Amino acid sequence: MVLAIISIILSYLIGAISFSFIIAKWLKGIDIRQHGSGNAGATNTLRVLGKGPGICVLLLDMGKGILAVWVGKWMGDISVWIPVICGIAAIVGHNWPVYFHFKGGKGIATTIGVMATLAFLPSLFAGIIAIIVIALTRYVSLGSLILSAALPILILIMNRPYEILWASLLLCVFAFVRHRTNIVKIVQGKENKLGAKKGERR
Ligand code: G3P
Repeated sequence: MVLAIISIILSYLIGAISFSFIIAKWLKGIDIRQHGSGNAGATNTLRVLGKGPGICVLLLDMGKGILAVWVGKWMGDISVWIPVICGIAAIVGHNWPVYFHFKGGKGIATTIGVMATLAFLPSLFAGIIAIIVIALTRYVSLGSLILSAALPILILIMNRPYEILWASLLLCVFAFVRHRTNIVKIVQGKENKLGAKKGERR
């Protein structure tokens, strides 16, 4: 039990490492949260710093989700709940990081890492749907929301353990709460588009 609690705290602390903040500070000396959309995440890093840093942040943010689930598997292997809670803890850490005044990102890349480790095929299909949505609309936020909503549906259809289903439902709620300003902007037609040219919303 003690090991399980330690693994959950450790997962939160891993998730709270804001790679977009660190990389933006390191490359340009800026606080990513004061540029672009103001979000500490891969999409905003891509927008503000370009493809290379954006892809690095995406992979690192996914990686911390994968690592957190594995920490749960290694240290708290008494029930499926522990890796699942560790994954959730990493996303809570990403969204509300203790090291950065609790001002973090929207948790999608970390959610992908967590869910791909817990339920690979449903995550793969949800990822493909999200990529199609992003390619058609150029709204990363819309793709993120569709991914988050598709995950519980696919997990249910593909009959994965109920602990993972509950986690995906909670993560879907997180995603919608964290994207509330994006949702308003999408409805108003003011949302930033991926790869926007000069003069277009970015
Ligand atoms: O995962 C974040 C993405 O869905 C939206 O990012 O910077 O456009 O608000 P951003």
